[in-house]
Amino acid sequence: MRTHFCGLVDEALIGQTVTLCGWADVARNMGQIVFIDLRDHEGIVQVVAEPADAAGNAAVLEAAGKVGYEDCLRITGTVRKRQSVNDRIRTGQVEVVAETIELLNKAEPLPFHHHENPGEDIRLKYRYLDLRSPDMQRKMRTRTKLVSALRHWLDARGFQDIETPILTKATPEGARDFLVPARMHPGEFYALPQSPQLFKQILMMAGFDRYYQVARCFRDEALRADRQLEFTQLDMEFAWVSERDVQDTVEAMVRDVFREVAGVELATEFPRMTYAEAMRRYGSDKPDLRIDLELVDVADRVKDCEFAVFTGAANDPEGRVAALRIPGGASLSRKQIDEYAAHAAKFGAKGLAYAKIDEAGAINSPVAKFFAEGAFEALLAHVGAGNGDLVFFGAGAYGKVSDFMGAVRLKAGKDFGLVQDGWKPLWVTDFPMFEWDAEEQRYVALHHPFTAPAVDSIEDLRAHAKTAVSRGYDMVLNGNEIGGGSIRIHRPQMQAAVFDLLGIGAEEQRAKFGFLLDALKYGAPPHGGIAFGIDRIAALMAGSDSIRDVIAFPKTTSAQCLMTDAPSPIPDAQLAEVHVQVRAADR
Ligand code: AMO
Ligand code: AMP
Repeated sequence: MRTHFCGLVDEALIGQTVTLCGWADVARNMGQIVFIDLRDHEGIVQVVAEPADAAGNAAVLEAAGKVGYEDCLRITGTVRKRQSVNDRIRTGQVEVVAETIELLNKAEPLPFHHHENPGEDIRLKYRYLDLRSPDMQRKMRTRTKLVSALRHWLDARGFQDIETPILTKATPEGARDFLVPARMHPGEFYALPQSPQLFKQILMMAGFDRYYQVARCFRDEALRADRQLEFTQLDMEFAWVSERDVQDTVEAMVRDVFREVAGVELATEFPRMTYAEAMRRYGSDKPDLRIDLELVDVADRVKDCEFAVFTGAANDPEGRVAALRIPGGASLSRKQIDEYAAHAAKFGAKGLAYAKIDEAGAINSPVAKFFAEGAFEALLAHVGAGNGDLVFFGAGAYGKVSDFMGAVRLKAGKDFGLVQDGWKPLWVTDFPMFEWDAEEQRYVALHHPFTAPAVDSIEDLRAHAKTAVSRGYDMVLNGNEIGGGSIRIHRPQMQAAVFDLLGIGAEEQRAKFGFLLDALKYGAPPHGGIAFGIDRIAALMAGSDSIRDVIAFPKTTSAQCLMTDAPSPIPDAQLAEVHVQVRAADR
């Protein structure tokens, strides 16, 4: 149908006849001359329809005059140098003088044009129109390049791409499962994989040495800017490895791929930080190191004051009192400080004490009165606060204070323009093996239940479960967890012991993980791996705040596809076939 792409018509083609296909991005009808910006996936070129030429060709001008937004056109014409050069587009040196304009498909009046930003719901309902925009085309292309570069890198190094089942048994990764009724087994269900975790481990036991898969994962969890119900991992597993083998390999891969796809040079060696250090300094297990603000522990300096909230936490071995100095923060109004408190509350804070030091050195703080003469000034000096600064304080349980002060740190970093340009990757290591779930009164795995503990002995693990550290690791980039993995348990006794500690009894172990415990019995090699969030990496590379921008057809935060209207009710007859009945209350 066409000889060239619109976006690639350049000066080398001057004098030549080209046939182009594309959408009318804009048509400007000036009466005796019509300009059409013709757009395809490569970009835009200006087409001109002029008055009747020597051959009396007036049809072109007439056809051009009728062109509307997003009409599908096929245009043949001659390339010539453009009079008014447009430096903003690649084809800006040239234009195409139309000889024929064929209307391939008329577009009805549009619900919106990609030049406008009508709000995400409308964009998602008419996703095909949204995706036509050069910006979305660029973002999706970044994703394509990323996946292609990753595959290329891994293929060249002998990694084997192996598919694992989508209809499977539950693989716990901490989210709810999506279930699929099994028509041929009334009352039974498949689960969609939360990740290929168990299959990739079993592949190592099956004699494959290095595996990867660009794998779709399904997790029924609350959606956010960096979370979708279905998302894509670059999933990897290695046999006969320790953590450094995995980390060094994938770090080199990430570095190479960022250079190739995004032209970004990442650090030659990613810094490493333990989970404990990350929580202490940044209040997060995925610290954004572009922000140069750190939490300071001040329990020692508040434990004798008169404010019960501070002293309670300061004298509790599981408590924390942390301060965060914000340079120049004294400019915040009372209302803005309240907004910080409201933000902290979303992360579990019961309050957010502060101290403002104005330019003259006067202190304004609701908690200063609880301190002995001079003690509050000494506390502020210890935190490094000077005139014009503001200090926030958080007190309470260690984890909670870390969380909300970490959130306050991120907000302050953004609000005060303290997020440096550039790329700050790091490894976070030495995660706790277990977290105590107070509601369920049992331990839950911080990574997943197949992660090896740092100790080899089952007795040691049992004796020190609360403080046990795992062999898990995360790769973090600019405050995003882009990958997570671990060395796995490869002995059945240890796996059973960990299940046990997680409150999974012998019977349940058999029913849910019997196949894994069996496979571990017959010579399972030491193994480990990692999975990267492709959507998250693509969003970072494309400069997007949300992974929705690099997923062609994402779900909304309320878990719907606005274009297809999924999820939707199913007729009773069809449900009966799969032995499912909807409760009356849920209709
Ligand atoms: P994990 O659960 O940490 O590990 O997932 C690995 C990476 O996948 C990405 N990710 C997500 N991206 C978008 N939406 C989601 N809902 C979502 N959940 C996770 C993140 C994360 O770092 N089987 C293990 C990996 C392993 O141990 O090898 C796993 O799935 O970038
Ligand atoms: P109150 O005496 O409850 O008005 O609290 C005095 C100040 O302490 C207010 O600024 C509260 O926001 C703050 N505050 C209350 N609880 C906490 C907490 N757990 N951590 C930090 N500050 C708190």
